[in-house]
Amino acid sequence: MISPEQFRFFSELVKQHSGIALGKGKEYLIESRLNELAKVLGLKDLDALYRKAKAAMTPKLKEQIIEAMTTNETYFFRDQHPFDALQKSVIPELMKQNQGKKQLRFWSAACSTGQEPYSIALLIAEHFPALLSWKTEILATDISKKAVEKGRAGRFTQVEVNRGLPITLLIKYFKQQGAFWIIDEKLKKMIRFKQMNLLSPFVGVGTFDVIMCRYVLIYFDQQTKKAILDKLVKQLNPGGYLFLGATETPIGLPPFMKRTSFGRATCWKKEG
Ligand SMILES: C[S@@+](CC[C@H](N)C(=O)[O-])C[C@H]1O[C@@H](n2cnc3c(N)ncnc32)[C@H](O)[C@@H]1O
Repeated sequence: MISPEQFRFFSELVKQHSGIALGKGKEYLIESRLNELAKVLGLKDLDALYRKAKAAMTPKLKEQIIEAMTTNETYFFRDQHPFDALQKSVIPELMKQNQGKKQLRFWSAACSTGQEPYSIALLIAEHFPALLSWKTEILATDISKKAVEKGRAGRFTQVEVNRGLPITLLIKYFKQQGAFWIIDEKLKKMIRFKQMNLLSPFVGVGTFDVIMCRYVLIYFDQQTKKAILDKLVKQLNPGGYLFLGATETPIGLPPFMKRTSFGRATCWKKEG
């Protein structure tokens, strides 16, 4: 059983470095995830991990603890509606708007193992081939190094490709290699994977026409959520769109961020 002191220690560490708020009731989650990590590190249990972390915390151990506490659930074309909105309305509108500079930039902020940015790349390859000759860029970032590395490899298991990916796209854009499916090199090249913490300043990432920040703000407290939303809005180009998870409501977005619906998808457009 995790002690109150161990719970306080680990939840504060995780909150401070990732924003993930593990309040009362999350004892079981910490216990199960960190017991697992302890085993991987060759330690007896969570208690041994706690003693090690208290006595000699290293940046590597901190990263491993935080990584263990992230939830990386994701799948291709998650929720479908945002991708329908991109295909039918958002990308055609942005292509008209950006016709002059022939540049379109997407950011999958909290991309997990890559299914979200690859869904954008697949949609572009399938429906907007003209964008392949534009400066089309997809930045994909996540705090989890492991998740980012997996995304960068573009290598998915059968179970992963069975989740959300239409078979036609699997056949057209993936090659089977043993037990894995490897995504087409052309699509891989559209995406830049980078380990990045949403709590850190967004330096050197540039600005974007579409930002997807889905199913990550739910793990933060209101203050952290608002601070991250403020920073994301600054990275959006005028006329650009912000997508959150279907169940997520933004707090304190400025009035120039106009709530917009396309079919069953809701997003926020930066006016101006
Ligand atoms: C549930 S996944 C969502 C993935 C994808 N956006 C989707 O909707 O399918 C949440 C991701 O947020 C990442 N995450 C958690 N805290 C983060 C932080 N402070 N900075 C960046 N990523 C973070 C986790 O590592 C995890 O991969």
